[in-house]
Amino acid sequence: MKGKSLMKEIVVELLSNSIESLSCEEIENLLEIPPKKDMGDYAFPCFKLASVYKKSPAIIAKEIEESIKDRQNMERIEAVGPYINFYVDKVMFISKVLDKYINNKDIKVNIGDGKNIVIDYSSPNIAKKFHIGHLRTTIIGNSLYKMFNFLGYNSIGINHLGDWGTQFGKLIVAYKKWGSKEAIEENGIDELGKIYVKFHDEAEIDDSLNDEARAWFTKMENGNEEALELWKWFKEISLKEFEKIYDLLDISFDSYAGESFYNDKMDAVVSGLEEKGITKLSEGARIVDLEEYNMPPCLITKKDGSTLYATRDITAGIYRKNEYDFHKCLYVTGLEQKLHFSQWFKVIELLGYKWSKDLVHVPYGMVSMATGKLSTRKGNIILVEDLLNEAIQKTKDIIEEKNPNLKEKEKVAKQVGIGAIIFNDLYNSRIKDVTFSWDKVLNFQGETGPYVQYTHARICSILNRVDNKIDISKIDYSLLAEESAYYLVKEIDRFITAVREATDKLEPYIVARYAVSLSQKFSKFYDECQIIVDNEEIRNTRLILIDIVKNILSTSLGLLGINSPEQM
Ligand code: ARG
Repeated sequence: MKGKSLMKEIVVELLSNSIESLSCEEIENLLEIPPKKDMGDYAFPCFKLASVYKKSPAIIAKEIEESIKDRQNMERIEAVGPYINFYVDKVMFISKVLDKYINNKDIKVNIGDGKNIVIDYSSPNIAKKFHIGHLRTTIIGNSLYKMFNFLGYNSIGINHLGDWGTQFGKLIVAYKKWGSKEAIEENGIDELGKIYVKFHDEAEIDDSLNDEARAWFTKMENGNEEALELWKWFKEISLKEFEKIYDLLDISFDSYAGESFYNDKMDAVVSGLEEKGITKLSEGARIVDLEEYNMPPCLITKKDGSTLYATRDITAGIYRKNEYDFHKCLYVTGLEQKLHFSQWFKVIELLGYKWSKDLVHVPYGMVSMATGKLSTRKGNIILVEDLLNEAIQKTKDIIEEKNPNLKEKEKVAKQVGIGAIIFNDLYNSRIKDVTFSWDKVLNFQGETGPYVQYTHARICSILNRVDNKIDISKIDYSLLAEESAYYLVKEIDRFITAVREATDKLEPYIVARYAVSLSQKFSKFYDECQIIVDNEEIRNTRLILIDIVKNILSTSLGLLGINSPEQM
């Protein structure tokens, strides 16, 4: 399938035959959807052409309208003032759109041509709790991953674990002074967090602890066995906990190459920076001065020679370009890291790499509860695993109340509960802060995940009544004469365009909203039209329509990382 709406394509083609001075793309961008239904499906404004034709837009509209010869796909075309309004032939349109989907049940699209899209997401920090911000990057990144794959790109998901840095020196000191193997084995990250906090408290009184920590980190960087054993152990403990969350979310990665992966690759990069002459020493530290670009300097090495977060990102960027020759490399993190990415993207540019323009930071806003910001410092952290499990439990309660005889209750509760959290996260533009309230998230009626899943399940149950048998030899599109059917098909026609727009803007909400809108259009149609009627042709035609809607709903949910149970 191509990535365009069929209706738009038809109108653009007609216009491009009559207007020489504009390209198809320009025409497409000018097309408007009229504010009122009785003004047609598309309107083309002629203002822009006035300077070319040296006539008034209204006269141009009239002339173009008259010059359009081939009208077989049109109910009518009208020049109204400066606009040309297009009324598409409904039966033609419905049959073309639905045929397209009948012949492409798995909805295969190829726009990306197999080009590699690297997506760096989730990337939590070892020995620290997986906080709600990490939940957002995980959900957004996973959705982008699925959408690019869907469009025929090849997504590569990288979990850039925060598994290197001076904090591990602190952790080793803390462990040696106050830690216990048993407690860590039993309580995992919680215990690591506890001794880490203790380190900070104690270091405020006794600064020499910081020197000790630095020394341990230097040992790590120099390959000291004891230090590396401990570090590896901390990492295993942490990963075990992260995996629980990934399992709940049903998310996996193509690579777990985290910060430590670049240890043996940074020297070459640091030398490269020096050879290029773009670093300088400042109080012993090596920096790239970015004053010219209105940014603070990018730190490459500290005065003790140790590397930093940015050093590892620069190295990883170069590595990824060599390894994957990416078309784009996306970094999904909180907005607070904007400067970090601007800085090191600039360093890549200064190194002379043209692909610096293909590095994209994909920031997002914060999550807040009714009670205020979710802090990670002061201890009142919302634990992601608890949040997900609570969503599942609450959904179970709802199911017990509404549909106690449901089969596979556990599985459905997981799919709906987790789906609700994901959908809530993806329903707004990334950068907007997300407010979290259970009532809103789990509402089966509102603009929510459960609502879309429920619509999908309703369609499944209708199709089950005929054992999913649809006789496509007994279909007559002219029987879909209701307005609600037409608007439902128009929405179907918008599907691939919505996914494209979502990947162009790196905004999954466009697909989330599309899924709600398609569900609403379906409900309207279903209110108006019974599906299982005696007349075979009407029945089969309506069945095929809702079967397509079902497939697009589950595909859309899948693109968001959400499952579609057949019963709820
Ligand atoms: N570990 C970082 C954090 O938790 C996120 C890493 C994002 N990716 C990157 N390549 N810098 O804030």
